[in-house]
Amino acid sequence: MKNKIIVTGGCGYIGSHTVVELIENNYEVVILDDLSNSTEDTLERILKITGTKPTFVNIDLKDKTATKAVFKKHNDAEAVINFAAHKAVGESVQKPLMYYKNNLYSLLNTLSSQLENGIKGFIFSSSATVYGTPETLPITEENETQRPFSPYGNTKKIAEEIIDDVIKSDSKLQSISLRYFNPIGAHESGLIGELPSGVPNNLMPYITQTAVGLREKLMVYGNDYPTKDGTPIRDYIHVVDLAKAHVLAVKRIIDKKQEQPFEIFNLGTGNGFSVLDIINTFEEVTNSKLNYEITERRAGDVPKLFASTKLAKEKLGWTANKNLHEMISSSWKWEQKLRNNN
Ligand code: WQD
Repeated sequence: MKNKIIVTGGCGYIGSHTVVELIENNYEVVILDDLSNSTEDTLERILKITGTKPTFVNIDLKDKTATKAVFKKHNDAEAVINFAAHKAVGESVQKPLMYYKNNLYSLLNTLSSQLENGIKGFIFSSSATVYGTPETLPITEENETQRPFSPYGNTKKIAEEIIDDVIKSDSKLQSISLRYFNPIGAHESGLIGELPSGVPNNLMPYITQTAVGLREKLMVYGNDYPTKDGTPIRDYIHVVDLAKAHVLAVKRIIDKKQEQPFEIFNLGTGNGFSVLDIINTFEEVTNSKLNYEITERRAGDVPKLFASTKLAKEKLGWTANKNLHEMISSSWKWEQKLRNNN
C-alpha cells in the first residue's frame, strides 16, 4: 500500500513540483488548495508528467469546519506538507492583516485537524527570510533568527515558533521545517512552473517576463552594495532540487529517523550569485540582450545571503544537483511554453 501524503497548496509553484516528486517516489497524494494563486489545470499537467492525477480538494484552510472534515476523511495519511500561504513580500507590507490571517489561521486549522486525526508528520515550507540580515556567512541553522522585514516573512518565523510550542506541549507532532533560499527554475517538461499573479516581485520571473515582452525593462535595485559587482548576492536553488528534499523529509519522518521532533534544514546550493550574474547567465542561455537599468535600492534587501548546506547533506542525505544554467534555462522554457499556450 502506498503511503498517503496531504499536500496543502499542492497546485502552487513549489507544491506542484513536490507533488510530481512524491508521485514518482510512489506516494499517494491528496492536494488541498483554494486555487487563490494557482489553477486546477495544474492537475492535468501533473497527470501528463507522472501518469497519475492526484486527488484534489478545493478548500480554504481558514474554514475550520471544512478543514476538520477533510482531515477526518483522509485520516489514514502519514504526513502533511504545508505549502498553502500567501507569499508576495510587497503585498504583505500593504495588507499585513490579510497575510497574518491567511497564513496563520490556515496553519492553526491544519495542525489541530491533523492532530485530532492522529496524523503526526508535518513538513513546513519556511524561508531564509527568518534569518533577517545575517551576521555570519554561510548561514547555518544555528544562526539566530531575526524579525523579518516583511509581514510575509514574519508569518514564516511565527509559524516555526507555533510548531515548536505545539511540539513542546507533547502533542506527538513530528515536524521538519525547510528554509528555502531563492527558488527558481521549472520542471524539465516545461509543463509546470512559477505563475506569479500580477507584476512579479521576484527577480527570475521579472527577467523572463521582460524577455517575452510582457514587461518593458528590469529594474536592478542598486549596484552600490558591498559585493563583487555591487549587486546583491543570493543562493538560487532549482525548484526540482527543492521538491526532492521534501520527499526525503517525508521519508525521514515516516522511517522515524528524526533526532528531535522538530528539525530545521536550510535548502540552498551554498553558492552565491549576484543580480548581474543572473542577468549575464540569462543572456548567455537565451543568446539575447535583456533590457535593464540600474535604479535605487529596494527597501529591506540584504546585501548577501547564502546557505550552509552541511546539515541537509548529513541528516537528510540531500544536496542540490542542478546548476545555475539549468535553473535559468528551465525558467525560460516554462515562460516560453506558457506564452505559447501549451
Ligand atoms: C533577488 C535579488 C533584488 C527584482 C524573496 C523573499 C524571500 C523568498 C524569496 C518567497 C535582490 C533583485 C529583484 C527586481 C531586482 N520568498 N531584484 N529587480 O528578495 O532575495 O527573496 O523571495 O516566497 O522570502 O524575500 O528575492 O527574487 O525578490 O530578489 O534587482 O525586479 O534580485 O534586489 O537582490 P529575495 P527576489
